Formats: sequence, structure tokens, C-alpha cells
Amino acid sequence: MKVYFDNAATTPLDKRVWEVMSEQLKMLYGNPSSIHHLGRTSRSEIEKARKSVAESIGAGTGEIFFTSGGTESNNTALCCAVRDLAVTRIITSPIEHHCVLHTAEKLAIRNKIELELVKVNPLGEIDLGHLEELLKNSEEKTLVSIMHANNEIGTMADIKTIGDLCKEYNALFHTDSIQTIGHFPIDVNEVNVHFLSGSAHKFHGPKGVGFLYINADHLIKPFISGGGQERNVRGGTENLHGIIGQAKALQLAIEEMEERKQKITEVRNYLKQQLLKKVPGVCFHGIQEGEFLYTVLSVSFPPGPKTELLLLALDIEGICASGGSACSSGSDKGSHVIQCVGDKEGRKTIRFSFSHYNTKDEVDYTVEKLAAMFENVPHTV
Ligand SMILES: Cc1ncc(COP(=O)(O)O)c(C=O)c1O
Repeated sequence: MKVYFDNAATTPLDKRVWEVMSEQLKMLYGNPSSIHHLGRTSRSEIEKARKSVAESIGAGTGEIFFTSGGTESNNTALCCAVRDLAVTRIITSPIEHHCVLHTAEKLAIRNKIELELVKVNPLGEIDLGHLEELLKNSEEKTLVSIMHANNEIGTMADIKTIGDLCKEYNALFHTDSIQTIGHFPIDVNEVNVHFLSGSAHKFHGPKGVGFLYINADHLIKPFISGGGQERNVRGGTENLHGIIGQAKALQLAIEEMEERKQKITEVRNYLKQQLLKKVPGVCFHGIQEGEFLYTVLSVSFPPGPKTELLLLALDIEGICASGGSACSSGSDKGSHVIQCVGDKEGRKTIRFSFSHYNTKDEVDYTVEKLAAMFENVPHTV
């Protein structure tokens, strides 16, 4: 059996998205910047896609900029806030994706901005009291960059409250919503947010395309120089078919959100329940009650003869999942997120992440293989 439990890394393309894209790949080849009718047709498809993406998060069409994906969107938000919006201080968390953390670190070194890390607790929750203290204690123009949901452990941040704190202390707010766009309703009118990032391949769209919402009052200067594409902000011929595919995938994800959520939650809960029953000593990272990223289950496995090479052992059985351990051996670098939230020596974290294509049969198969790998391992947590 082949099992794909790595949907937080990327999702398979929806067949209906592929159909729209392949049709357009055959028909639509004019350069969107050309003024002849073929160019104008391509331009009109891009603008339709922009309107559709904008509407899905309550933004204006002029506030959506197409990018090459989440990494570019996050880099742009941070770098342009420093370059164009007089930001001299960034507050972020130690469990952000590396495309935020490393960008912030580079900006701190190169641009000599101040970098502050807000505390998180062992469940991955942001310490809002600490955030307020950091915001209160400085006169520097600040950008707060906090992810909506953590891609490794699934804990979500209260972006409404963070946005309100930013407003109170006159800070800009960026949220990396790569894991939540298409999975949770998001309305930029309900959150005081200036930048918000999305990536199509996390919601069954194509890879290599994403978007950045930039609040209309905080427009940035060109960050890729060239032609005047993307309202003169990002030069280069647009990824026309990717952009069309992204809009279709997001439209479907929003239309089917509740149905998909129910299906995924059922499969996730079933995996959790079966693991607790059949693999002694497992425990879970991140928030498990209330609101959390229902597409992710981060499992910590006990030490045992197969633990170190667990991911490989699963792969041999046809099961795709992701690693993310605190790492004590030299075999991988380990995850900064698991290191931050903490895991006991010798344990191994595997992230199982789901889409609506997954089934309980796949869970049964996976748990059967895992139970065999942990047979006779002492029951320690
Ligand atoms: C939370 C988060 N941010 C950013 C990214 C990067 O997105 P992309 O792969 O589209 O560059 C990812 C991808 O794994 C992610 O999970």
C-alpha cells in the first residue's frame, strides 16, 4: 500500500485544477504584457485570478501580489518592511519557518535592525504577555512576524489578538499563513494585518506559485526590477498557468473547506486514537484541544531499536511522512521547532499530515507497521 501522510510538505494537485491548467497551457500562450489580443486574454485571466484570490480573504484586488510561493512572500514582507516602511526592529518567534527566521537574522546582521524573539511555551503557544512587553518597551518602528499555524506541530497563534496588540503599539504585522490558507476562513478585514502569505501547493494547487497580501496603505517599492509586472512591484513575465491554477485550487478549497475539514479531522483523530492503543509510549506535540491545525499530527515515539531510522522504515513500507526530531545523533540536523518545544532524549518525532484524500484504511496500515516496529519496546513516555 502507498500512503501519503506528508501534506504539510506539499499536497497532490487537484485533478480539477490540473484540467483547468492543462486546458490553458494549450490555449493561452500570449505574454500578459503584450498589447495584442492574445496578450490581453492572458492579462485578463491573471486579473480574474487576482480578483478571485483577493475575494477569498476579503482583500482588494490591488492588495494581492503573485509570487513564486511562500518563501518568496515571507522574504518580501520582511525585507520590504525594512527597506521601504522604515522598520528598524523585527519581533518574531523561535518556531517560525526558516524562510522567516533566517531572513530576519540576515536583516539583523546586514541592516543592523534589532531582532527580538518572543517566548513560546512547550505547546508552541506565543507568550502574549511577553509580546506586549517587547512592543511596549521600544520606540523603534517594529514589524511583528508570527505564523498563523506552525507547520511542524500544528499549534495556532491568535492572530486577531496579535494584530490588536500591533495596532495598540503602532507596529506592522505579518503573518505566515502558508499552512492555513485554504484550510481556515481568513478575512483580512477582521485582523489588523499588513502582510499575509499564501502558497498554492499547500492547498492542492501547483508548486512554484503563491501570493502576498499587502495592505493598501503600506505599499512597497519594486523588489524585483524589470518590467512593470505586478503593479511595478515584481518584474518578470508572470507564471500565468500557475496563477490560474492557484486561483482555482483556492476557490475549491474554500468551497469544500467544511467537508474536507470533517474528513481530515476524522482521519487524524483515528490515527491518534489507534497510536495510543497500539504503540505504547507515544505522545503528541502541540495543542490538541480547541483550535489547532487539523491537517497535522506531530507524534513523539519512544526510544527503541527502530526509532532512529523510523522515517526510513516507514518509507520502506510505502508510507510518506516527515521527520522533525530534536536530534541527538549526527544523522540529521534536527528540527529547531522540536528543540524549542522540547522532546526527551532518544525519542523521535514524526509529523503525519493529512488531506481529504487520506482514508482510515491508510491509518490502519500505518499503525499496523508502526506497532510491529515498536513490539517489545518498554512502555516509557
Ligand atoms: C509555514 C510555512 N512557511 C513557509 C513555507 C515555504 O513555502 P514554499 O514551499 O511555498 O516556499 C512553508 C513550506 O513548507 C511552510 O510550511
